[in-house]
Amino acid sequence: MIDFRSDTVTKPTKEMLEAMFNAPVGDDVFSEDPTVNELQEFAADYFGKEAALFCSSGTQTNQIAINVHVQPGGEVICHEESHIYKYEGGGIAKNSGASVRLLQGDRGRLTVDEIAKWINNPDDVHFPLTQLVSLEDTANRGGGAIYDFEEIKKIKAFCVANQLPLHLDGARLMNALVETGIDPKVYAAQFDSISLCLSKGLGAPVGSVLVGTKDFIKQARRVRKVFGGGMRQAGIIAAGGLYALKYNVERLKIDHDHARKLESTLNELEWVESVLPVQTNIVVAILKDANQREAIIERLAERNVRIMAFGPGMLRMVTHLDVTSEQIEETCTILKSL
Ligand SMILES: Cc1ncc(COP(=O)(O)O)c(C=O)c1O
Repeated sequence: MIDFRSDTVTKPTKEMLEAMFNAPVGDDVFSEDPTVNELQEFAADYFGKEAALFCSSGTQTNQIAINVHVQPGGEVICHEESHIYKYEGGGIAKNSGASVRLLQGDRGRLTVDEIAKWINNPDDVHFPLTQLVSLEDTANRGGGAIYDFEEIKKIKAFCVANQLPLHLDGARLMNALVETGIDPKVYAAQFDSISLCLSKGLGAPVGSVLVGTKDFIKQARRVRKVFGGGMRQAGIIAAGGLYALKYNVERLKIDHDHARKLESTLNELEWVESVLPVQTNIVVAILKDANQREAIIERLAERNVRIMAFGPGMLRMVTHLDVTSEQIEETCTILKSL
């Protein structure tokens, strides 16, 4: 089976499993797990931040960050298709009692001009207090679109001027950074907190890290416990994440090349209306006949290729480290023969 449904389907490699098997462990709720501590120090240093927190998932790191930044009744500004709003089970409302100001923007990305229009006047009691701006890079619903770093800098300057924290859902941040070549520390300096998933393109089986200041991470650690996310001998899984961050970043470029090959094949097919221009590892095809979506998914599954529906008349294919160049060739041949 060639599985393009998501980059979350990867299995740990032999080398990663060995690192996990041999990891020294301790009780992480007591901050005594040496491997978790090593991962957290590595991640903090990687992004030039003071501290980091290892968590079970990207949803958890995002929701913890929101909970630390925002008070009940406050408002979060984010894209209408952002993961924190659309795919985290209503967690902003449920966990933090906050409301959202949903903005539109090209392929999941916001601009400073849009954000600036929606900062509520804190002196008018009608409006919730705007307390956080959250971006997503790469933007999943935007088909792996990368933010323009100049725009991020403008958004940061605006947030500083308005005393607003800026959070990044960087589930696939490393996909963006290997493409742009921007230094992780330079990039991360624009954000107060960043959530990075280790279990997507980086190939670890479990986990995400949240980075920020010492004070922010201290508060996040408390929230993680309250959310039931305090883990004990978590070094076993943290070792997979540490391995991923050390050895699986540069190779993301291979996944991006693979995605471009799929893009160019899809663009040749008569049943495809268009393909969102590929920037990283996500390929989104828009069908000429929206009603054909399920039939195409089924016919590909019959040929051992799994892909996912991505909204009306849309299909998504995600490349990752468990898909080889040969499998990309094979998939292109299958796509052409449908
Ligand atoms: C952009 C984005 N953010 C956050 C997450 C959440 O990650 P997790 O599945 O580990 O909760 C995902 C997962 O697909 C994602 O695509």
